Amino acid sequence: MVKVNNWQLGRDMDYIYEESRPQRQMAAVFDINKCIACQTCTMGCKTTWTVGKGQEYMWWNNVETKPWGNYPMAWDIKTLELLGTQGWQKEGDKNVYAGKTIFEAAPPGERAVGYLPKDIEWAYPNRGEDETNEPLQENMHWMDAVHAIWNYYLPRLCNHCSFPACVAACPRKAIYKRSEDGIVLVDQQRCRGYRECVKACPYKKTMYNHVTRISEKCIFCYPAVEQGIAPRCMRNCIGKIRTVGTVNTPDKIDPENPIDFLIHVKKIALPLYPQYGLEPNIYYIPPIHVPTKFTRQMFGPGVDEAIETYRRVRAGDEPEIKGILMLNVSTDRLISKFKVTSKDAIGYNADGTEIVRVALKEPTIIREYYDASRDVFRHNIN
Ligand code: SF4
Ligand code: SF4
Ligand code: F3S
Repeated sequence: MVKVNNWQLGRDMDYIYEESRPQRQMAAVFDINKCIACQTCTMGCKTTWTVGKGQEYMWWNNVETKPWGNYPMAWDIKTLELLGTQGWQKEGDKNVYAGKTIFEAAPPGERAVGYLPKDIEWAYPNRGEDETNEPLQENMHWMDAVHAIWNYYLPRLCNHCSFPACVAACPRKAIYKRSEDGIVLVDQQRCRGYRECVKACPYKKTMYNHVTRISEKCIFCYPAVEQGIAPRCMRNCIGKIRTVGTVNTPDKIDPENPIDFLIHVKKIALPLYPQYGLEPNIYYIPPIHVPTKFTRQMFGPGVDEAIETYRRVRAGDEPEIKGILMLNVSTDRLISKFKVTSKDAIGYNADGTEIVRVALKEPTIIREYYDASRDVFRHNIN
């Protein structure tokens, strides 16, 4: 093991390989407050990549309802238990992880602590869907109880981690992280189906194909990314919750990059289970209606600050964040930089060319109740 710097932990940690950052790192931010669990992302991915034999149970993108939904069954609870005591401490204005990562908690002779899900655990992709944390009482609407009753939707895919457990664990070095964009891929020629990657990935996003006997995973739709086009699951998001692009490390922040702006400048978007130690590159704006005791374990100690910032967005006090969120899924193309004026949010590609412009406030048109030109009465439709 060598020491690498994991900025999400606020400290160095042990990893099997030297720290080697790609030229750019693909990343995304999901606004959980807007996810409606329509599963369009899930089906977009499924119909694009996993319709073959042995892929029946593969959901490279899935959306699970928290707190009870999980695919494969109990994936997060099992790894949290294997990890033991976790906790964060303040050092100046920095949050530093005080527990062990999955690499530091590895048993002797292994590279990460993990487990191999049984076949039955992969059998129920929609387990717990739409269940609330507690049963609803008679005559109670779930929105009424000042959020004593809650749930939220968590869209998940491979995090194309900066320190991937799948890469660390494979004895054949069959998984690699691309230097040009940080996308993590399984080399289908080299893989021999050892499944150490499946065991080690705490997010359970490497999946074994029982027909081909090799493992597969989300490819971040690299053929699209190479053309400057966003991945399928990001492009067809009905709720427009997804900001997709690249992320920099905190020493190289570009405030004109929408992802850097959300993560580093405004700290409104947080990683999923940062304590696992993989530096995952899919980030989440946490749900604002859920007790933070729960979400802090899932997204780390920045949850309260992120929620405060999100409330300011809703109050109209953060026009730049609002602008970025308005640009979500407004174009098929990858946005590298953004600008917000008093009226518009504008997205630019890597060359600095404007590729999309959306109004910050959409116009409202009210039809007249009486249409004199046709002499008809209409119901008003906004
Ligand atoms: Fe590998 Fe899992 Fe990280 Fe994806 S989420 S890069 S499969 S460790
Ligand atoms: Fe599927 Fe592409 Fe989304 Fe990965 S990035 S989950 S391969 S649609
Ligand atoms: Fe390696 Fe996983 Fe294949 S451990 S050999 S990539 S199944």
